[in-house]
Amino acid sequence: MDNQLVVVLDFGGQYKELIARRVRECSVCSVIKPGEMPLEELAAMEPIGIILTGGPDSVYRDGSPKCDPKLFELGIPILGICYGMQLMMHTLGGVVEPCSVSEYGRTKVTVDTASPIFTGMDRQQVGLMSHTDQVNALPAGFVSIAQTGHCPNAAVADPVRRLYGMQFHPEVENTPGGAQMIRNFLFNVCGATGDYNIEDYEARMIAEIRDQVGDEHVVLGLSGGVDSSVCAALLAKAIPGRLHCIFVDHGLMRKNEGDEVEAAFSGRDLDFIRVNAEERFLNRLKGVTDPERKRKIIGEEFVRVFEEEADKLGDIRFLAQGTIYPDVIESGVNSAVIKSHHNVGGLPEDIKFTGLVEPLRGLFKDEVRALGRRLGLPDTLVDRQPFPGPGLAVRCIGEVTKEKLDMLREADAIFRAEMKRSRRKPDQYFAVLTDTRSVGVMGDSRTHGYTIALRAVKTTDFMTCEVVPIAHSLLTRTATRIVNEVKGVSRVVYDITGKPPATIEWE
Ligand code: XMP
Repeated sequence: MDNQLVVVLDFGGQYKELIARRVRECSVCSVIKPGEMPLEELAAMEPIGIILTGGPDSVYRDGSPKCDPKLFELGIPILGICYGMQLMMHTLGGVVEPCSVSEYGRTKVTVDTASPIFTGMDRQQVGLMSHTDQVNALPAGFVSIAQTGHCPNAAVADPVRRLYGMQFHPEVENTPGGAQMIRNFLFNVCGATGDYNIEDYEARMIAEIRDQVGDEHVVLGLSGGVDSSVCAALLAKAIPGRLHCIFVDHGLMRKNEGDEVEAAFSGRDLDFIRVNAEERFLNRLKGVTDPERKRKIIGEEFVRVFEEEADKLGDIRFLAQGTIYPDVIESGVNSAVIKSHHNVGGLPEDIKFTGLVEPLRGLFKDEVRALGRRLGLPDTLVDRQPFPGPGLAVRCIGEVTKEKLDMLREADAIFRAEMKRSRRKPDQYFAVLTDTRSVGVMGDSRTHGYTIALRAVKTTDFMTCEVVPIAHSLLTRTATRIVNEVKGVSRVVYDITGKPPATIEWE
């Protein structure tokens, strides 16, 4: 691969993957490397530009992350962001000190539009500030190219050496002009040509997988979700014939889902192992009504089935997982356990595998979807909405039985089919089989059937949500179809509660 390359040097900031993504969005290849990487190694990569990330430390503290001072003599354009800018200033002889007034949040910034990184932009910008130190004196050769009310050096430049720094974070959405600033740095300063696309990205990932795995075999737990499906398709291409996908069908999937997953992988060069374990899961769930208990049982049983199947495959060292970047951030967050969101597929630490293959680790959800499409996965898989690991068990309130699951599957399929006609596209929508029965009348006889609740929500982070106002005509048509077509259901309601105070799932 001979694409132009930008190296993102990591100094411990939380946004390094976001920076790499912004560079990819400009059709420029980027890789993240540790801030202290040896200079010869860095130079050998021949990057057209280098970006120094932020970080939580203070440059004047002993032991804070540093870089080789000769980095700034390589003649390669460098953009330092937040800590990265302070490190550049400190190393080159500027003065970094604690701020008299720390700035947090969206801050007005006045920029010098004559500078190549602010070309074509308005003088008044908004930047996300988050700093307790600031640059109070610039090294020789540098000038200030942006200021805020409290920060005289909100961005700095030495145009001769092509060294730039920004105190605010151009990579986040809270800096609305930030993507343009990064684009300007790449195209106006580094001479980027935008020669990188998703095909190159795929080729790079395939090369890395081959490098890691050599000629060995790999096992993957396939759930049918977007991430594990894309991971499977990618691995099948990277190591044809040496990928073993274990798909545990726990019988808690939506209508036809198990068959759809199997069909999507039928023509690929991989070993697809479908384990139909419905009976096993339902036996263990008999009489269980507590949601957390259901989750725990399903998680444990999943691991047991997975291990049994993996053992049959013999000695395989590598386990692949479809971990994507937001999972990496979320797993670092400590919060009270409202629901134990263990994903089925989340495997215990003492599992026999010694090598972990996670090719999607640096990608965001929309990028994973784009890659999935490229790899020829069907829209039903690529655009699949999030589906909880414990499946319909947490949408079937009370005890989970085959009869209740079948009713729920039918009702859910009708709701999804009707929603296809809607112009509104909720981020998640589904049916729930409540444990409430109510009296109804059909023909001349009394019925006493279950109540189905419909739910459709809009959310970006799934931590909070709003209810989607669905057209009454669509709701009534769905309700009529469900009551007419699903035996055992006599009433349909629409859930109009947001999160908080409710949660997205009912259990
Ligand atoms: P809640 O119900 O907590 O759901 O508002 C937020 C998001 O997480 C999904 N969810 C789960 N996902 N295992 C999962 O993998 C689980 O046990 C689980 N419970 C909820 C839910 O579908 C929504 O997208």
